[in-house]
Amino acid sequence: MNQEEIKKYKEIISQELTPSRVEHCLRVAELAERFALAHNYPYPQKAYLAGILHDITKQKKREFHVSIFEKNNFHYDDIPENAFHPFSAKFYLQEKYNFQDEETLSAIQNHTLGGENLNLLDAILYASDFLGSEYAAKQKEYLEWVQQVEKNIYFGLYLKAKVTILELLEKNERVHPSTFLTYNSVVNKI
Ligand SMILES: [Fe+2]
Ligand SMILES: [Fe+2]
Repeated sequence: MNQEEIKKYKEIISQELTPSRVEHCLRVAELAERFALAHNYPYPQKAYLAGILHDITKQKKREFHVSIFEKNNFHYDDIPENAFHPFSAKFYLQEKYNFQDEETLSAIQNHTLGGENLNLLDAILYASDFLGSEYAAKQKEYLEWVQQVEKNIYFGLYLKAKVTILELLEKNERVHPSTFLTYNSVVNKI
């Protein structure tokens, strides 16, 4: 991972995403690097790049995701449509850009639904995605949240899972089991 590669992928996401979504990716990348440093994750540049790339397929249409899933024999019946993009991103990065770093791809794949056994980079990206959202930035607790996640990465998992669950309940929508697993796996660790 070097500066040149990061520059290359920044240009790529500028072609794949609208400017406001690119801004989100840059915020997520900066937070991911910050949390990587705070938690002694050995490759802060990798965390940064995961932030840059995580939403690369976010603005693709349903047919795009479905066709990439079918091509790869990936079962998507259980996945809510707003969580298609982290899974299609993995295939798309591998196939179109020959991006093969497994650790980064894992973090990208888990950034929306989370899970029970997230590794450190997965957790960093999951938390950064939430704190890099416009919703989070508008909350009065924002700076406090960032500081808490710097101290305890589980707090970031708890926060994003909780806000996601509350939002879905409010809209009478289904909560994916992985989101509950994320919440349950950390609620006693904060
Ligand atoms: Fe996303
Ligand atoms: Fe995102």
